[in-house]
This record gives sequence, C-alpha cells and structure tokens, in this order.
Amino acid sequence: MDNREKLLEQLTGVDSSKLNYYIELKKRNQEILKQNSRLEILQQLTRDINIDMSIEDILERAFTKFPQTLPCDFLGLVTFRNGALRLKALMPRDFCRIDNFPAHSPTLNVIRDRKAGIFNQTPEELSHVRINPRYPGPLRSLAVAPMFQRDEVIGALIVASVVDGAYSEADLSFVQHLADQLSISIQNARLYKQVSRAKKEWEETFLAVTDPIFLVDTDYNVLLHNNRLSPEMSGFWNQAVSNKCFAKLHGRTHPCENCPIKEVQRTGKPVFQRWQTETGLILDLSYYPVFNEEKQLSAVTIIIKDVTEKTKMEAQLVQTAKLAALGEMAAGVAHELNSPMTVIIGTAQLLARDLKQDAHYEQAEVLEDIINSGLRCKRIIQNLLTFSRQNQPPVTDIDLNAEVERVLSMIQYQINRSQIRIVEQLAPFLPRLTANGPQIQQVLTNLLINARDALGEVERKEKVITVATSLLVKDGKKWAVLSVTDNGTGIAPENLSKIFTPFYTSKEATKGTGLGLSVSLGIAESHNGTIEVESRLGEGSTFSLLLPVEQG
Ligand SMILES: Nc1ncnc2c1ncn2[C@@H]1O[C@H](COP(=O)(O)OP(=O)(O)OP(=O)(O)O)[C@@H](O)[C@H]1O
Ligand SMILES: [Mg+2]
Repeated sequence: MDNREKLLEQLTGVDSSKLNYYIELKKRNQEILKQNSRLEILQQLTRDINIDMSIEDILERAFTKFPQTLPCDFLGLVTFRNGALRLKALMPRDFCRIDNFPAHSPTLNVIRDRKAGIFNQTPEELSHVRINPRYPGPLRSLAVAPMFQRDEVIGALIVASVVDGAYSEADLSFVQHLADQLSISIQNARLYKQVSRAKKEWEETFLAVTDPIFLVDTDYNVLLHNNRLSPEMSGFWNQAVSNKCFAKLHGRTHPCENCPIKEVQRTGKPVFQRWQTETGLILDLSYYPVFNEEKQLSAVTIIIKDVTEKTKMEAQLVQTAKLAALGEMAAGVAHELNSPMTVIIGTAQLLARDLKQDAHYEQAEVLEDIINSGLRCKRIIQNLLTFSRQNQPPVTDIDLNAEVERVLSMIQYQINRSQIRIVEQLAPFLPRLTANGPQIQQVLTNLLINARDALGEVERKEKVITVATSLLVKDGKKWAVLSVTDNGTGIAPENLSKIFTPFYTSKEATKGTGLGLSVSLGIAESHNGTIEVESRLGEGSTFSLLLPVEQG
C-alpha cells in the first residue's frame, strides 16, 4: 500500500497527506464501529440474559453477534470446581471435546494467575482439544478471561480462532468484560433458583397445613390464605363482596368490634380468641404479628384450629371425674344407710307380725307401707353400691334361660297385673355362661320394669313384653343375647344417648331414680358384655344384653 501511495505521489505529485488522513479516518471509524458493536453486544447480553436462560443459550446469543466484532471460531465456558476444570458449555455446540485439561493448558494458567491472557499456540500445544472434523482447525489463538464470583475464580471464558495472532489487548479486554457479565448472569440465575426453591418450599408448607391460615394486612385485606376454611367454619367466604377479613370470615361490612388485629397492632404481641360458630363448632383463633425490616407491624397471621372434639372430650373428662367422685360419695352414703335400713325394716316387720297376731290389721297395714318403702330404699342402696362397683360379686357357671325363668316367676304377677302379656322366646340350646347370676337377674328386672313403665303410659289393644334369648355371632365373636321388647312409648332419638347416664330419668321422682340402666350397663360391661337399644318413638323398644360366650 505504502509503495502504491508513494508511486501515486511520485506520479501525480499530489501530496498524499490528505489520502493518509482519510485512510486514518476510515480506520478510526471502523474502530469506533467495532467498539460500538461490542458495547451493543454487552448491553444486549445484559438485557437479553433473563434468569430463565441456560448457559448454552447465553453463549449462543453472544456467539451469533461475534462475526461483526471479534474473530471467533470457538466460544467455550469452563467451570473450575474442587481444583478440576470442566467444559460446561460451548459454541458451536458440537465443536470439540476436551476430556482433560493438561497442566500446561492456557485456561489453567489464567485461572491460577487470576488474569486474562492471549495465547498463540502450536497445534501440538492444543492437542487435548479434539475438534469435530466438520469444523476448520486447528485452533491457533486464544483469548481467555477468568470468571469471578465475589473474590473466587469459578471458571473461565475462552474465545478461540483458527487464525494465528487473531487477538489484540483490546479484544482481550472485551472478552474480560464479557466474562464479567456472564459471571453476574450465572450468579443471578443461581440466586433466582435458590429463591424460587425456598419460595416453593414455603408455599408447599403453607398449603400442607390443614388448619386454615390467613395473612391479613393492617387494613384487614386478606393477602394470602391456604384454602382450608371449611363451609362449617364460615359460610361467608365465597359470598363476600370484598377481600376484607371481616367480610370473608363474618359476612360483615365493617371491622368487628374489639378486633384482635387492632390489639395485635397496639401491643405487638400475639392474641388468642375462641369462637363458637352457628354450626356448633368451637374454634381457637391465634393472631400472630408479622413485622417488616423496619420492625413495624406489616401484617397479622391468623391460624384457626377446630377444637370442637377436643373441648367435648375435656368436658367428658370433667364429667367422668365428677361422676367418679359422686359414685364414691354415693357408695359411702349407701354403705352407711344399709345398716339403719335393715334395722328399720326388721323392727317394722317384727312389729307388724305382733300386731297381726293381736288382730290389729289396720295398724299392721300402715307398717306394711313402712316395710315396702324400706325395701325400696334398700333396692336403691343396692343399686348405688353396684353402680359405684364397690362390691364385686363372684361369677359362676350359669344357665341364662334358668335365670330368666327365676326372674319371671318373681315379677310376672306384678307385670300381668298391669294388663301386660309376657311372651317368652327362649333359645333351647344355649351354652352355659360364666357370670354372676343375681346381677344378670338384676339387669333383667330393670329391663322388665322399664318395659312395664313404658307400657303404662300408652293405650294399646294389646300390651306385650317379649323376653327372648338367642345366640349371635358378631365381630367374629359369639354372644348370648337376652332381649326385652315392649310396644310401649319408645324413646326419642335425641334421648337415646342419655338413657344410660346415671340419674337420667323421665319418670316422676317417686317412681324412678335414673340408675336402672346405668347400673345394668355397668354390670354388662363388668361381664365384658354390653347393652344395645333399638327404639322407635310411639312404637316400642328392644333392649338387648349381650354376654360373651367363651369359645372352646
Ligand atoms: N323400655 C323403655 N321404653 C321407653 N323408655 C325407656 C325404656 N327403658 C328406659 N327408658 C327411658 O330411660 C330412662 C332411664 O331408665 P333407667 O332404668 O336408667 O331409669 P328409670 O327407670 O327412670 O329409674 P330406675 O330404673 O332407677 O328406677 C327412663 O326414665 C326412660 O325415660
Ligand atoms: Mg328403670
């Protein structure tokens, strides 16, 4: 070129300085264009690299822009972890394989020195780079820049060309910029992944909790909830016209009076509250403050717990404890009353006998009332004692049908007097049972008297009590069943659960103490049996005593 210019100068005599000036200007212009294009690449990379992109995609984007800016036949990203180098991504994607980076590899030098470098290599020096024959090779020059994360080298960016001496210091500085930009993107992507994983974990935990949880801001807006509020807890959720907690939870248009959120706001401390819903649920609500970085209350977390069952069980426990105490007291009183009652009855009987002997029949009859009332008191005392299970009578081998006959022979007359027919349906071949005979008699007597009382309150063409025995196999176990069926008043479904409760009675005070069935159930259970009831109001009832039959 110089010769040509000189020749021209000599031939034309025109001062070539102008020409030189233009050539220089053109060169500068090209340089500026290249610089611009590089800046554009960096800018575009920053803009384009969104956090969802893989490293391969990022490299591809850069690579497609290179021809205008930088000689590049190969672009690679190498990671450095635990002292080992690994080719993580490359462009073109199938350009080469590098299984091992030898100790003299330029990349290792760059990482060790923490400084970018240009390398012009002989093919032998780069023999570890096995280039796909589809591409031109071998690589002759490399520009390698380290990638940092905080102060640590995490890898290197390699730009390579098949042309020898392809890179200048300016090119290297561009490669370093590119490497820095990539490091930031990789770090961002990693942080994004960590944050999204943490977010996902938190969301999954939040949704997994079966108790309803809400996040409500200080202006009562429901910010977040885990969709666990059942319609029984609040029927307003879906109908609510606004997103305010008072609308969604209570169907209100204004905040509730004494709203716990206000109290949390005032005190900065958790608040606990108990609700009883119209649907009969008991709910415990906990309001926890949520603070922002400035330590100001930003929201309130509300957790709702259905404690209906728990509360019922607690009440039952208290009831049981009360009953136990009552039972103990009753046993004491009953025991104390037993002896004076015996004296009263005995003395009255003696007196009555004497009076009868002396033909004072009227006075003797008055004494009969004392004796009868006394006997009734003794029965009640006996019931109280059995109820509190103070006396544990022994068990023997019994014949259930024989016990039935014994009871019927004693009270049949009393029942027949009330115009009630007794039907016996006794199973012929019942196995013998291990039980306490008198107690079984007591149960049957209670059931029969209850049946009689139930028939006393109804008008029937025929009043019938059926006493039946049978064998039953239930839950894989054999049971002897003694049932008493009447066509009396029957029991309202809502009262069925109450009839075994001690002292529950529908009878007038002189007639019933409300102990008959609870005592009978106690006896059944002490025999490892139970009592079942089937009843229809207005039609009648069947009470069945189930006693286990020992196998073998
Ligand atoms: N066969 C039945 N038909 C209808 N109601 C019954 C029958 N058996 C029991 N009941 C109901 O159950 C209640 C409780 O019975 P339970 O035998 O425990 O006490 P009670 O008969 O009232 O008094 P007690 O037996 O102590 O003299 C009765 O008051 C009655 O309301
Ligand atoms: Mg009774």
